Amino acid sequence: MLRKTDKQNILNRFASKGIFPFQMAFTLLIPLRNIFLSPAQLAGRLELNTDSVVMEVGPGPGYFSPRIAGIISKGRLILADIQPEMLEYARKRMERKGLGNVGYYRCSGERFEFPESTFDRIFMVTVIGEVENKDIYMSEFYRILKPGGILSVTELAGDPDKLTISEVRKLAESHAFSFYRQYGNEKNYTVNFKKIQRI
Ligand SMILES: C[S@@+](CC[C@H](N)C(=O)[O-])C[C@H]1O[C@@H](n2cnc3c(N)ncnc32)[C@H](O)[C@@H]1O
Repeated sequence: MLRKTDKQNILNRFASKGIFPFQMAFTLLIPLRNIFLSPAQLAGRLELNTDSVVMEVGPGPGYFSPRIAGIISKGRLILADIQPEMLEYARKRMERKGLGNVGYYRCSGERFEFPESTFDRIFMVTVIGEVENKDIYMSEFYRILKPGGILSVTELAGDPDKLTISEVRKLAESHAFSFYRQYGNEKNYTVNFKKIQRI
């Protein structure tokens, strides 16, 4: 049983900047979220193929993940989160849905232990603002994306860590990503970048 002060502490972290507390993960699975962005809408923005190799950074309990794993039936989805409790939540959810093409990766907060040019897509939803080492993550994403691969960043209204479109563009473009496509508006948006090989 949690003490009153622990509960208060979790609620405070839920409402303020910083890593989203895993104890509140259930709030991320409310279907009402589809008003802002549905898993099907997001999947359309990722331009997936059935054999795509995809990493979702910060999946939390995996609201968007089953839809993506289902589309890339001949590919693989890696769920990469900094909180092991979130990964465990997502793993149970994916297994219950019979999705076997999924791997789980515990982020260190810095380097990603994957070889260069591993992924066709890397995406994240309401995560980038929580990442402490944003520059390290961006250069790692560039390294582990395949040439022509897409980095997709989605931010949604109500997130205390939300970055603006121009902040996200500045961050990605300073790591050699090329702006490719934008969906939505400043309140709820997805910005996609491409890794164009440096000559
Ligand atoms: C607000 S939740 C969003 C979860 C999910 N993307 C969604 O929209 O339902 C943010 C998630 O990012 C994860 N996260 C925060 N910092 C991270 C980091 N540096 N690396 C990987 N995951 C991180 C948190 O553990 C949490 O699961």
